[in-house]
Amino acid sequence: MVYIPDVISVDTDLQLRVPMESDAATLFNLVEENRTYLREWLPWLDETTSVQDEVNFIQEQTAKHQTADGSLFIIESLNVGIIGTLSVNQVDHGNLTAWIGYWLDQSHTGRGIMTRAVGALVDVLLVSCGFNRVVIETGVDNLASSAIPLRLGFRQEGRSVQRQWMYDRWVDSFQYAITASEWRANA
Ligand SMILES: CC(C)(COP(=O)(O)OP(=O)(O)OC[C@H]1O[C@@H](n2cnc3c(N)ncnc32)[C@H](O)[C@@H]1OP(=O)(O)O)[C@@H](O)C(=O)NCCC(=O)NCCS
Repeated sequence: MVYIPDVISVDTDLQLRVPMESDAATLFNLVEENRTYLREWLPWLDETTSVQDEVNFIQEQTAKHQTADGSLFIIESLNVGIIGTLSVNQVDHGNLTAWIGYWLDQSHTGRGIMTRAVGALVDVLLVSCGFNRVVIETGVDNLASSAIPLRLGFRQEGRSVQRQWMYDRWVDSFQYAITASEWRANA
């Protein structure tokens, strides 16, 4: 069975860590501070309205992590604390494919943090965990998000029309993907 580690080092300041229930209040407060910002591109804000919702989400994701059916990682700065999340949202074990998604505290954007964090996770998934393909889907107008897979050498594979209902509108998305052999060749 595929095993996804609990902690992934990104650099000297940043790590990805599977959260504990005791992280729920801090994570929820970060969502609260960024609620308006995140609503533009993430569809789940109305389902996370209390610390208990966050506890429930962490429990669900921890169960998935144990069977490698998904993983919620908090992005943790050793200096600042929790600044966002990076998740394996979906896994196709038969085809060794993982779909990932992410968000970052607005005040920490624009410094390459998510590109480094996604790079570290993709490396672990494709080189250590045995996945063969990683997919990222982004809203077609979400340029900050699309820049991340493009910068990491992912291929844009196509446009999904009306891929996601975003509160009051349909959003088209681009699909980006990279295979293990492509990732190794780029290393
Ligand atoms: C998407 C997100 C995670 C990016 O995090 P980040 O740490 O700022 O990302 P990075 O700094 O690693 O890279 C962002 C890239 O986008 C570019 N960028 C940022 N805003 C941009 C814009 N409006 N237009 C074009 N490019 C933009 C940056 O210049 C950078 O690329 P570069 O280094 O090649 O110049 C963050 O903006 C976020 O959390 N957004 C809200 C939630 C979200 O959209 N999640 C993704 C859903 S698919």
